[in-house]
Amino acid sequence: MKGIVLAAGKGTRLYPMTLPVCKPLLPVYDKPMIYYPVCVLMQAGIRDILVIIPPGEEAPFERLLGDGSSWGGNIQYVVQYNPRGIADAFEIGAPFIGNDPVCLVLGDNIFHSLPFETQLRRVCRKIESGETGATVFGYYVDDPRAFGVVEFDENGRAISIEEKPRKPRSNYIVPGLYFYDNSVIEIAEHLTPSARGELEITDVNLTYLKQGRLTVEKLDRDFLWLDAGTAENLLYASKAVADTQETTGRYIGCPEEVAYNRGYIDVNDVHAIGRQLEQTLYGQYLLCL
Ligand code: DAU
Repeated sequence: MKGIVLAAGKGTRLYPMTLPVCKPLLPVYDKPMIYYPVCVLMQAGIRDILVIIPPGEEAPFERLLGDGSSWGGNIQYVVQYNPRGIADAFEIGAPFIGNDPVCLVLGDNIFHSLPFETQLRRVCRKIESGETGATVFGYYVDDPRAFGVVEFDENGRAISIEEKPRKPRSNYIVPGLYFYDNSVIEIAEHLTPSARGELEITDVNLTYLKQGRLTVEKLDRDFLWLDAGTAENLLYASKAVADTQETTGRYIGCPEEVAYNRGYIDVNDVHAIGRQLEQTLYGQYLLCL
């Protein structure tokens, strides 16, 4: 399974903060935003990662994430010149994806729950074995109008998905984490832009739904999901990460820890990185692993 982080939007809803620094590099509490989606891919067991970035931003991304080898992975970069829509990731990413299945995560989405890693690995296996063509998630929110909204029948099966509906048919939104088999490349190729001029990820999901090949897993109400795309959400996300870390004593979005837990790097590697960051709580956390 390959992994893609889509991190190329202009971040206009965060101006002026995103004039000099693009959104995925802004901090969410004690780490750059992009650490969180990268960690989700790593938790799913994905080591080959493509980061889709905005034009002119190669240097800061490479400075931050490098080639992924310090976390036992392989990170590549490609520029999206025009924000044509989320599903454009599969056209841009096609050479990287090759013949493999792929997981796409949005660069401003944060996911956390203790059993999430187990769930992610199960989802990967179902796609890799061909048991399902695609898996996305359903997450309950009070106001779903700004998102993709999924409706379920009485047996819990998804029956409709709509992008930003004025009158939502349910309170379950589809967060920005999507698992697909390799046919996603062909599906994305045949998409036409929506009324707002974008290649919609919801149209990809609808294609799988119509083919009877889409699985939608509901996330628990105590699951932490955040879209950090506005100043208000960014503040909320920082507070949520800080509170969770303080309560549990465990970090969210710490790639070194995920890599260590998964056996991609050893304790000496983690401590070497920790020593470089020794003056921060982050570095001290690594030194205690
Ligand atoms: O956050 C989950 C929601 O994300 C889903 O429920 C929706 O179905 C999905 O369409 C998306 O909605 P948003 O309105 O939040 O998408 P947005 O345009 O903000 O893009 C999400 C991220 O992807 C953002 O960090 C910028 C990046 N992006 C977006 C587009 C359209 C790109 O890198 N390139 C693009 O062309």
